[in-house]
Amino acid sequence: MSEAEMTDSNSDQPKGGTATVAEPREGETLLKVSGLKKHFPVTKGLFKRQVGAVLAVDGLDFDVRSGETLGVVGESGCGKSTMGRLITRLLEPTAGNIEFEGTDITHLGVNGMRPLRRDVQMIFQDPYSSLNPRHTVGSIVSAPFKLQGVKPEGGLKDEVQRLLQRVGLSPEHYNRYPHEFSGGQRQRIGIARALALNPKLVVADEPVSALDVSIQAQVVNLLDDLQEELGLTYVIIAHDLSVIRHVSDRIAVMYLGKIVELTDRQSLYDRPMHPYTRALLSAVPVPDPRRKQSGGGRERILLQGDVPSPMNPPSGCRFHTRCWKATEVCKTKEPPLVALETGHQVACHHPENAPDQEPGDTKLLVEK
Ligand SMILES: Nc1ncnc2c1ncn2[C@@H]1O[C@H](COP(=O)(O)OP(=O)(O)O)[C@@H](O)[C@H]1O
Ligand code: SF4
Ligand SMILES: [Mg+2]
Repeated sequence: MSEAEMTDSNSDQPKGGTATVAEPREGETLLKVSGLKKHFPVTKGLFKRQVGAVLAVDGLDFDVRSGETLGVVGESGCGKSTMGRLITRLLEPTAGNIEFEGTDITHLGVNGMRPLRRDVQMIFQDPYSSLNPRHTVGSIVSAPFKLQGVKPEGGLKDEVQRLLQRVGLSPEHYNRYPHEFSGGQRQRIGIARALALNPKLVVADEPVSALDVSIQAQVVNLLDDLQEELGLTYVIIAHDLSVIRHVSDRIAVMYLGKIVELTDRQSLYDRPMHPYTRALLSAVPVPDPRRKQSGGGRERILLQGDVPSPMNPPSGCRFHTRCWKATEVCKTKEPPLVALETGHQVACHHPENAPDQEPGDTKLLVEK
């Protein structure tokens, strides 16, 4: 479909927040990403000479299926937010391809993206800075309707008040300002704004990281309920597995701009294959403390050293500078992301819970 066609097709879509657009069937590919890269140039001096690049996202391949929640997890700085901003087309990719419902959206301009802005929404990490303090809640949640020229049937104010109720706020909050609300309530306002136009895909970038632990579960449960009610598809980004473990159908683990493991939640928890995933899992608190004492819990793996700089990532496997299983081949050859079992992709020469991919190479880089 050309840009012009996409723009035109917007005009005959039903009006209102509860549009009955032909929904993609559950399980079908909604978003397909291949070879996706984002390199930020690093410049120096008066003439802004490029001296390098931050390889924030460096070749991602994955898809998001209609109706699922894909969790994306990895340490701070590994490129999760950049990935989120690329697939919602808030950032222009350096290379690769993004398809939404079979349409190539990789390089769509502002006009071409306009109809898509309804279908793809983002929830941001920080509810404090993502809401304009000078605007009332009513005008914040009304903004998407105004931007898209959508006139809800029962009137805009009624529709916004209905949305506020749906996310657990009160219709009376319409005329209040963001500073009058707690962090959790502010994130609910952000969620109401994201859901205003009944999107198909919602990308939530660390939606609860800025909130008190006691509030986190409430907001995660709200997202979960709304998904069921509205048939939403989620990409939920988190820096550890504790928040997304319960809500994700599949989980992608990222390290320094790459996906190192991608599989369904159960396989990831029961049989992680990438050493980095094992380390991340070992840091998640075990719900029952007795299991730890009886030795039934996971052995805690403390990763050595810091995450290397994405300006100058390690050769071969990017994790080799911190991996206790690294051998010579890990330093020289980059392991491709391959399916070692059905639906379980991993990028590692010496995976856990699976046959060794480089059995000849046994000499560890770092002896225990
Ligand atoms: N606009 C930008 N310009 C330059 N570097 C950036 C920009 N945005 C992000 N980065 C860098 O890209 C890397 C990945 O960042 P980000 O996607 O925010 O990671 P995460 O969300 O996983 O913490 C980091 O090293 C960060 O400093
Ligand atoms: S490829 Fe080597 S360094 Fe990388 S995770 Fe696997 S064992 Fe560790
Ligand atoms: Mg981030």
